[in-house]
Amino acid sequence: METDEHSLYTEAAVCLEQTLREGEKTANVDIQLMLANLQRSDQLIQQACDREHDPFYINLLVHLHNSLGSHAGVLEAKINQLNNGPSIPPVSGGRDTPQGGNFSDDSQKHARESAIADTIVIKDGLNFSDVVGLDEAKQSLREAIIMPLHFPHLFTGSVKPWKRILLYGPPGTGKSRLAQAISAEISSTFYCVSSSDLVSSWVGESEKLIKELFHHATSQSGRSVIFIDEIDSICRQRSSREGEHTRRIKTELLRQMEGADNTEETDKIFLLCATNCPWELDTAFLRRFQKRIYIPLPDSEARIELMKLHTKNNKVNLTEQEWMLLSDKTRGYSGSDIANMTLGALFIPIRDLKSSKHWELSAAGQYTPCDGKSPSAVVADLDNLPPDKIIPREVTVADFIKSIQTHRKTVTQQEHSKFDDFTTHFGEKG
Ligand SMILES: Nc1ncnc2c1ncn2[C@@H]1O[C@H](COP(=O)(O)OP(=O)(O)O)[C@@H](O)[C@H]1O
Ligand SMILES: [Mg+2]
Repeated sequence: METDEHSLYTEAAVCLEQTLREGEKTANVDIQLMLANLQRSDQLIQQACDREHDPFYINLLVHLHNSLGSHAGVLEAKINQLNNGPSIPPVSGGRDTPQGGNFSDDSQKHARESAIADTIVIKDGLNFSDVVGLDEAKQSLREAIIMPLHFPHLFTGSVKPWKRILLYGPPGTGKSRLAQAISAEISSTFYCVSSSDLVSSWVGESEKLIKELFHHATSQSGRSVIFIDEIDSICRQRSSREGEHTRRIKTELLRQMEGADNTEETDKIFLLCATNCPWELDTAFLRRFQKRIYIPLPDSEARIELMKLHTKNNKVNLTEQEWMLLSDKTRGYSGSDIANMTLGALFIPIRDLKSSKHWELSAAGQYTPCDGKSPSAVVADLDNLPPDKIIPREVTVADFIKSIQTHRKTVTQQEHSKFDDFTTHFGEKG
């Protein structure tokens, strides 16, 4: 590969990585930045395609170009939707927000208002059925959030809906996904805040932002849901390592939670938080959750369901025994470990195309790799076949087993025991 071609690919990869990194955020996502990066990488891919001679790579680049084009379309639609979406009423200033402040106060306030607007989740179609297993957690969340919204008359007198739930468990078990799914199940406003963003990008402004966020939520009609992800980055136990900045955010959050206990508008906000390390949380904070629900690693049945979920758009025909075998081999894997392993397996037949020498020609004129034993097999290199007529072979159980060998579990037994310990003392199984 020529040097300038190499730099085209490198820059395209960097742009794509930046897009992905931005997209992985659970709040305050800069969609314009994602779109700009996506478009730039698409330009570079097209330039690379113009210089490429190998039909295999040309085919891949064309696919990539089409896929980037459709992703850019989705982002553009989302930007339009946000621009034309509900206007956010001004958030009234708290006691320490100067009234009629100078330009910089105004612009900071404006920035906070738009940060709050950014935390409001626009429903993206993900719902409870896209979250595998976790039936008890779903049931608790239904009772806490959905039932009081749909049947407010059931929650009168001393039957009060829960106001705060903490989801905890190993990383990659579906806590954020579950929270996201709730937004689709309710019609009221759902705010999604990532604590790490709050801490890193809002130095000095975060307490005001929290105060205004809660204020904004109470001013909505109906009962709003505030979801704070990775709460441990704010609400750690007091320690000398704790910075002044995080201490102030934590104090403000506790104050807002207490406020919700003492005002008449107690039922206006439901607070949902998630963490991968609950033992790091300040006990004052931990105590304020009426329920602490353990989101565990997927069990055998859930692992199969997860593999099936991630292969639902691909041709994968395994027997129930084969799925069981894979489930046995992925004991201790988290949901995201399973997702990565499955993607790895799906990719193997595509990688094999390059080395295949024998092809089976279908009635529809498509070429699929074969072992060459059949007399009708076509002998050819991939480069000599029409790129758009190439179909990879089906994914087999052997591909999964190969992928399992390179995708190991990420949660150790030791971490797992820590969660069990915590659940015995503070939690309940979800
Ligand atoms: N129960 C589940 N159902 C469906 N997908 C899951 C589940 N658990 C994990 N995943 C997969 O793992 C990824 C990470 O899940 P996430 O909700 O971000 O984990 P957490 O917040 O617990 O760290 C998801 O995008 C999804 O692909
Ligand atoms: Mg998460």
